[in-house]
Amino acid sequence: MRPLLLLLLVAGVAAQSQLLNNAPDCAVKCVRNTSVTGCAATDNACLCASTAQGVLLQCALGACDDEDDRNDMQTLVGRVCAAVVRSFPEEPVVCRC
Ligand SMILES: *[C@@H]1O[C@H](CO)[C@@H](O)[C@H](O)[C@H]1NC(C)=O
Repeated sequence: MRPLLLLLLVAGVAAQSQLLNNAPDCAVKCVRNTSVTGCAATDNACLCASTAQGVLLQCALGACDDEDDRNDMQTLVGRVCAAVVRSFPEEPVVCRC
């Protein structure tokens, strides 16, 4: 498969998936805990904001005893949030010249 096609495929799959549905069991309570993240559990864009993402990972790393789960959570957040950035091109990042 060509690299571009693969990239689009990966981004598409990630964009459809919620953090909540794919987080390891031990980390789900962190995703759901709005007082930890300040975000709705299904709001990937909010969860991926740098502050929320940081506390979410911190919570998950504390909540998960299994190193595999911790690694999964980090990979998941990285993957989902990379897709979120690409799915919101309408955010005003360019100058209005
Ligand atoms: C959410 O997180 C806060 C702060 O860490 C904690 O005090 C609270 O018990 C958690 N709530 C749930 C439902 O896990």
